[in-house]
Amino acid sequence: MGIFARLFGRSKRPVIARLKPEDAEDVAQLHGDYFDRGWSPVECENLIADATCYGLGARLAQGEPLCGFLLCRIAADEAEILSIAVARHARERGIAKSMLARGIAGLGVERVRSLFLEVEAENIAALKLYRHFGFEEVGRRPAYYRKADGSTAEAIVMRRNF
Ligand SMILES: CC(C)(COP(=O)(O)OP(=O)(O)OC[C@H]1O[C@@H](n2cnc3c(N)ncnc32)[C@H](O)[C@@H]1OP(=O)(O)O)[C@@H](O)C(=O)NCCC(=O)NCCS
Repeated sequence: MGIFARLFGRSKRPVIARLKPEDAEDVAQLHGDYFDRGWSPVECENLIADATCYGLGARLAQGEPLCGFLLCRIAADEAEILSIAVARHARERGIAKSMLARGIAGLGVERVRSLFLEVEAENIAALKLYRHFGFEEVGRRPAYYRKADGSTAEAIVMRRNF
């Protein structure tokens, strides 16, 4: 992305809204672009419709296709980030930050007191994102992720208290 596009892109705020069942195909596509174990559109639709799930979608402007999503699952006063992803063309414009800020506020309203997640130890962008919001490392799971090429990667477990 060029410098002007980056500056222009950063100045526009994404449109963030709760996910709807009709977003399921786009969520499955965005998730599958990055994660080795994909989710089918039906799995995504079930998650979005599940009362224990809290999902947000991002668009660069009203009426444009989904360019990012955040899906969390709530259990009592704890929640877990199941997945967060932003389309490659829309990255590094603050979209993940906007979704997470909105998500943390929304989960707080749902009386969540701690938010957990797992992240691959070498996922620099995601680690920066989570540290920005005050997530702290609470554990490590060696060889937790199995990749398509057969290799494994360590997971860091992080928590943020509200
Ligand atoms: C991780 C991800 C969601 C970040 O989305 P994004 O919209 O590009 O992130 P933002 O623009 O809001 O930036 C968040 C932070 O990450 C940093 N960042 C984003 N992309 C980066 C990159 N490629 N390299 C280094 N830092 C990066 C930003 O500078 C920012 O940090 P700051 O607060 O210190 O400025 C996106 O890269 C993605 O979808 N990755 C694939 C899926 C994934 O890894 N999900 C997380 C699984 S746990």
